[in-house]
Amino acid sequence: MSANEKAILSVGGKNHELDVIVGSEGERAIDIRSLRGQTGLITLDNGYANTGACQSEITFLNGEKGILRHRGYSIEDLCERGTFLETAYLLIYGELPSQSQLSTFTEDITRHTLIHENMRTFFQGFPLKAHPMAILSSMVCTLSAFYQQSYNALDAEHTDLTIVRLLAKIPTIAAFAYKKAVGQPYIYPDNNLNYCENLLKMFFAVPCEDHEVDPDKAKALDQLLILHADHEQNCSTSTVRLVGSSLANLYSAISAACCALWGPLHGGANQAVIEMLSEIAKDGNNVRKYIDLAKDKNSDYRLMGFGHRVYKNFDPRARIIKKTCDKILAREGINDPMLDIAKQLEQVALEDEYFIERKLYPNVDFYSGILYRALGIPQDMFTVMFAIGRLPGWIAQWREMVTDPATRIGRPRQVYTGQQAREFTPIENRESLPGRTAGLDRVTPHE
Ligand code: SDX
Repeated sequence: MSANEKAILSVGGKNHELDVIVGSEGERAIDIRSLRGQTGLITLDNGYANTGACQSEITFLNGEKGILRHRGYSIEDLCERGTFLETAYLLIYGELPSQSQLSTFTEDITRHTLIHENMRTFFQGFPLKAHPMAILSSMVCTLSAFYQQSYNALDAEHTDLTIVRLLAKIPTIAAFAYKKAVGQPYIYPDNNLNYCENLLKMFFAVPCEDHEVDPDKAKALDQLLILHADHEQNCSTSTVRLVGSSLANLYSAISAACCALWGPLHGGANQAVIEMLSEIAKDGNNVRKYIDLAKDKNSDYRLMGFGHRVYKNFDPRARIIKKTCDKILAREGINDPMLDIAKQLEQVALEDEYFIERKLYPNVDFYSGILYRALGIPQDMFTVMFAIGRLPGWIAQWREMVTDPATRIGRPRQVYTGQQAREFTPIENRESLPGRTAGLDRVTPHE
């Protein structure tokens, strides 16, 4: 929506008028789509902290008030009253499904959970200690090789089928990656179970005995997946939009998003939080030492699970996860020392001027690892679980982008600050200037 308001840019002795756009929640943006044409200028914004990449109807965040809504529904309501597949349908198709729509969507997903038998052998090719995010991103892209006749990004039927295949097969790929790591036989999907029960059974069942999935754990996992389902234009979602803007197929865009999510500053933080808490535990629970380290400008140490580009108040997802942590651990009679250290860390940090001044609060990753541990999920699978949760959000954002007539291929500009034109230097006249690290003494074998 365009406001009547205009932004006036005065540069080079001239005034240029730019429209101001107002979102449905009152956010305002200067529309710079004509800036370079009008002024010859571009904008510069490392990390895009001040730049809107698109207009979207999917998720609304208010970082100051700690609000998160999907298509207008609060994250609290969706966690309390909805399920992950309902939330996935809402994100992707714009409305909560009717009972018949949900039944059909669920049935379609249930009947696509198998991966091609040839893919099963690919898992053997990875080193035993391969990080599961390396396997997940590779296998997601590999899916495109098996469905080459039905992944045209501009074909709605192809898209609906690809959406079902991704939602159905990614939990199977994740579970097979886990079984490979622990040297157990793969457990095939069980169509008699719901989405999260099936996921937990594929992870933890073994062929030599019956396996009952705890419904409360399945419900806690369902809530965790809802909490991760979408988060507007975060790093991995922006990756999906950029890759998808070239009309590459959805499998390749999701594979790229998995790689972006893997980073410790993004989805990899949940694993890094547990590694940090374990380090503090080994160091005599010396919470203050690590708070001081995080505050020390000479150290690049950060409190993992703390801080957020948008939330300058509590991450509403962290609040919900913390409550579920308490409930599940109490019910299971688990006394996880990591939870106690996390609570101490939170308390000390939230009373410390450094964190208060920078509005650094626990984010979604701070407690999620503790809940995954309580569900039996191993640490290096945490980011894979984040990807399973975020998948419907990535899909929804990709679909909104691909179906938007205003979409253009993503191609940011730059401000060049390198060498100006210079003559070519023949090799005999060149000195050895600092550059790459010293040559490798020999090819190091894989670990
Ligand atoms: C996710 O975008 C999303 O929505 C992401 C996500 C999603 O659902 O998709 O919410 C999921 O990725 C959550 C974030 C997980 N990452 C971490 O927990 C890693 C630790 N957090 C930080 O690295 C950091 O807070 C970020 C990456 C999350 C945000 O970085 P910003 O917005 O670029 O903030 P910044 O690095 O510019 O920091 C601002 C100041 C700096 O200090 P000053 O230079 O002003 O003195 O705050 C400090 C930073 O040093 N700071 C921290 C800190 N985070 C920021 N200091 C200590 N510990 C931290 N965790």
